[in-house]
Amino acid sequence: MSSQFPLLRMRRTRQSSWIRNLLSENNLTTDDLIWPIFICDGNNEKQEISSMPGVFRYSIDRLNEVIDETEKNKINLIAIFPYTPEERKTENAEEALNPENLVCKALSFIKSKKPNFGVMCDIALDLYTSHGHDGLIDNDGIVLNDETNKILVEQSLLFANAGADVIAPSDMMDGRIGLIRNELENSNFKNLIIISYAAKYASKMYSPFRDAVGSSNKLKSNKKTYQMNISNSDEAIREVALDIQEGADIIMIKPGLSYLDIIQRVKKEFKIPTFAYQVSGEYAMIKISAAQGIIDEKEIMLEQLISLKRAGADAILTYFAPQVSEIIRSRN
Ligand code: PBG
Repeated sequence: MSSQFPLLRMRRTRQSSWIRNLLSENNLTTDDLIWPIFICDGNNEKQEISSMPGVFRYSIDRLNEVIDETEKNKINLIAIFPYTPEERKTENAEEALNPENLVCKALSFIKSKKPNFGVMCDIALDLYTSHGHDGLIDNDGIVLNDETNKILVEQSLLFANAGADVIAPSDMMDGRIGLIRNELENSNFKNLIIISYAAKYASKMYSPFRDAVGSSNKLKSNKKTYQMNISNSDEAIREVALDIQEGADIIMIKPGLSYLDIIQRVKKEFKIPTFAYQVSGEYAMIKISAAQGIIDEKEIMLEQLISLKRAGADAILTYFAPQVSEIIRSRN
């Protein structure tokens, strides 16, 4: 190929910010953000999570702050994760089905104040089990698929009844999306959105999250028998195809940055709304190295989020949501 230089100089369109801005192919807006938050028992609690500086657990009575922050920052959806008190975590996760559990209480608090405020709830058992697994286990510690599914269906109904707008099964059991979708249809929750964590990898990047929800010391083994093998890509396509068939509206890929190839493949092959989760370990790596002066927090945060968009993510769950929204809004 003969060079077109100097007729073509790629640097012409990079010479100044006005032209770089005009030619920017992907842009981050507040409409791209979903904010995961942690909730806990007690009164007037706002506890910082040590492995996730700047991220807090809020007691229900302080969720006003979350609502205000979300509205101020024009964030459309929050995802709530409970820190279930130690004494209520059991082998069979009974607390997951307690109509008075933290998630139900948070939903009723938020919905009484703001009926149109978007709330997404995690469907899985690890936030309620004494062993930290996402499902029920047998005597040998094997996670039971079909028995777990029955509880996941009930948990979905419970949260639907309590006012959830979106439920997000993050457990990686087989067949659960279809079972949940059928039950929702039969129970007249025809408009409840299911975001399926269809391709969730058995990643080591979830450690700070497990800290935040109090399950890190519990888990004696890993989650490799249900979460995906980090080496696989074709398998993600099969997982996503199944969940679409079973009735998922939106697909989640998790973690984010190390799985850009998966986001791109899924978006290309299925053309379905695809979200990415910038997980706790990704957040902590940026926050903690920035605090030591090693990297530039703001620039790296923006670089990683825009990379997720460039790969094809329609929206991103990120603990940086309020912070990044402030930056975006200050530019406008
Ligand atoms: C629960 C769940 C996890 C995360 C989201 N939902 C933990 C896990 O699967 O072990 C991780 C999120 C993060 O690391 O930010 N099933």
